[in-house]
Amino acid sequence: MANAAQNNRTTSPNPGRKSLLARIRSRVRRLLGKNKKPRSPTTGNGPGPGERARMDFRANMARMIENMERAIAAGDEQEAARVSEWCRNHRKTLKTVKWHLDGDQAKIAHFANAKDERVARANYHPYLIEKSAEFNYLTWPRHIGKYIRGRSVLDIGCGFGAFGTAFFASGVASYTGIDPQMPLDSTFVKNKRIRAKADLGMSPRDIMAACPDIRLMNCRFEELQGVERFDVITLHNVTEHLHGIREILPSLKNLLHDEGLIIFHHHNFYCWNGHHLRPNQPQQYDEKSPEQARIVDWNHIIVAPDMPEDHYFNQNLNQIRLDEIKQITEDNFDILVWDEVPSTPATLARFNDDILAKLQDFDPTLTPRDLRINAAFCVARVK
Ligand SMILES: C[S@@+](CC[C@H](N)C(=O)[O-])C[C@H]1O[C@@H](n2cnc3c(N)ncnc32)[C@H](O)[C@@H]1O
Repeated sequence: MANAAQNNRTTSPNPGRKSLLARIRSRVRRLLGKNKKPRSPTTGNGPGPGERARMDFRANMARMIENMERAIAAGDEQEAARVSEWCRNHRKTLKTVKWHLDGDQAKIAHFANAKDERVARANYHPYLIEKSAEFNYLTWPRHIGKYIRGRSVLDIGCGFGAFGTAFFASGVASYTGIDPQMPLDSTFVKNKRIRAKADLGMSPRDIMAACPDIRLMNCRFEELQGVERFDVITLHNVTEHLHGIREILPSLKNLLHDEGLIIFHHHNFYCWNGHHLRPNQPQQYDEKSPEQARIVDWNHIIVAPDMPEDHYFNQNLNQIRLDEIKQITEDNFDILVWDEVPSTPATLARFNDDILAKLQDFDPTLTPRDLRINAAFCVARVK
């Protein structure tokens, strides 16, 4: 048979043309992707440097974490320095992966982003890094990474103390978190992934004992005035809660070094879920709930003035408008970044001319922007 096939090929009446069968075979191989030349690093067809780095990252990440943990336990500074260098060499690779959602990748980020390797080693806590990824505490520090790397940070209104390790994954030099509502001995924090309380397994006091450059204080920022200064102040979803924001924002300059930065993420009261209550998203809306029906679809803006003094709206939300908070910031700082983040498409789908007309009837100065922007992100420098 083999000979016959061979003969057929050599005795073809048109040797320059492929037989029909050969053409079909070739087509099938092409469709299956089998005609591609094998990629070879030596011919230049192989993976580029970025892909090679990603392959090295994926293949060696777990081993490097093990090596680092063994080196830290043994006090082997040389080995720790070698692994740190490998991590630093992967800073570019880290930019291409979602390390803020992955505990192991975040461990590499912890060393890759550190300005001082010894500080990184001293504050390395693998369990807390894994929990930071699991509870979604790494997203915010990653977002502001380039402004906080190598800096001393004061996190005003830090919540329950779970942000410290996450800030170290973005390379801070030190982290001070303050909040008058932070119980120093409770292990419960907010799991930001599911928006519910969860057991972190460590209290703020345990975290401070484990990480020397994390300080967690149950106090108001006013108590730090005149005591200490920082390179950066961060406020994540805090500015909308501060009564006296008009005086507070300018006073924060006194807590910053020259050229210090203030970074805030401000949740806008006038957007669909600016009331901070349920429903947070349209899919949570329970039409049978009278409380929800009262505030849903921007109605919270209209009912707010009728709420009693001790209602959440009056106690916890300062109801400042976007333009005003921007103006106060501008008057006191040089704004480097001002980004306005629109609400989700599901939320905006509920916005229409009737709603705008109703809201403008209530307050003619309200604009579609006031109602559609979910949050403002600001980075500003002391003037
Ligand atoms: C919505 S929480 C945000 C918590 C945290 N930043 C987060 O994003 O998960 C606002 C926090 O600001 C805190 N806060 C209010 N007034 C404060 C003040 N004067 N000094 C420090 N924190 C304050 C509150 O106790 C509250 O925990």
